[in-house]
Amino acid sequence: MTRHFLDLSDAGGDALAAMINDAMARKAARAALPKGAPDPDAPLAGRVLAMVFEKNSTRTRVSFDMAMRQLGGSAIVLDAGTTQLGRGETIADTARVLSRMADAIMIRTDDHAKIEAMAAHASVPVINGLTDRSHPCQIVADLETIVEHGKALPGLELAWLGDGNNVLNSIVEAAGLMRFNVRIGVPAGYDSDPAYIEQARALGAQITVTRDPVEAVRGADVVVTDTWVSMGQQGAEARIAAMTPYQVNDELMAQAKADALFLHCLPAHRGEEVTDSVIDGPRSVVWDEAENRIHAQKSVLRWAFGQL
Ligand code: CP
Ligand code: NVA
Repeated sequence: MTRHFLDLSDAGGDALAAMINDAMARKAARAALPKGAPDPDAPLAGRVLAMVFEKNSTRTRVSFDMAMRQLGGSAIVLDAGTTQLGRGETIADTARVLSRMADAIMIRTDDHAKIEAMAAHASVPVINGLTDRSHPCQIVADLETIVEHGKALPGLELAWLGDGNNVLNSIVEAAGLMRFNVRIGVPAGYDSDPAYIEQARALGAQITVTRDPVEAVRGADVVVTDTWVSMGQQGAEARIAAMTPYQVNDELMAQAKADALFLHCLPAHRGEEVTDSVIDGPRSVVWDEAENRIHAQKSVLRWAFGQL
């Protein structure tokens, strides 16, 4: 069976835990190596990842490329606009061709249905590098970061502020798989996908939705936010107006636990969803979180190739 990673549930809780452990162990083991040097066991030697981008990216693009180098393989970047996809070649045919030429495919796309079509027609693993619906690779890195900073996942209280977007959907999905709780503080009209919430609740996670940002953050172990206007979204002015009360600033962070961590997948819109004082402050772990995209995705890749 080809292992696709379209959402965290494709791997499941046990595999997700294995990925977090593997990411931390490999990160520690190569601490003294130059960033581009391969890990001594080079577990993906000779393998090539094709990366298709229909949207902009800094972290996902660089971290997957570095991940493949460190695993002993390599990556090819395809900017969709300059490929035949941009001239109307179908996703299905692109999946068939890339499956003959590369060993795995990562795609960042504006429509989750496209990655499902890619997976349906690919005979190599397909990995979600962000869709309008979810961003599972980001959350593997986020969980690694939280654990690395000494917090256990079961029973963890995570507060989300701002927009009910793709990143939140994957956090909620992770909560069900890893048994932590999420308090969602978002304005009416910007709620996240109820299907992810129902799935997480069915697995025993407490998922609370509130319109009160203070209630969301009070006593939290981790506070997370993201841009109020995701790539491809319209109505920036209305979104910003609705989400302004949910800005993560010092006043709001003061409601969380004294040792609460602040996470943001980046890129940040400083002065909108987060203030400089918080993102540059002592509780922010956003640079570790960004670096961990490399380590976490190495484990996602190893899982996709049946090594975890
Ligand atoms: N967090 C994240 O996915 O960043 P990029 O958009 O830069 O890839
Ligand atoms: N929610 C953001 C995440 C960017 C990494 C977006 O989709 O644009």
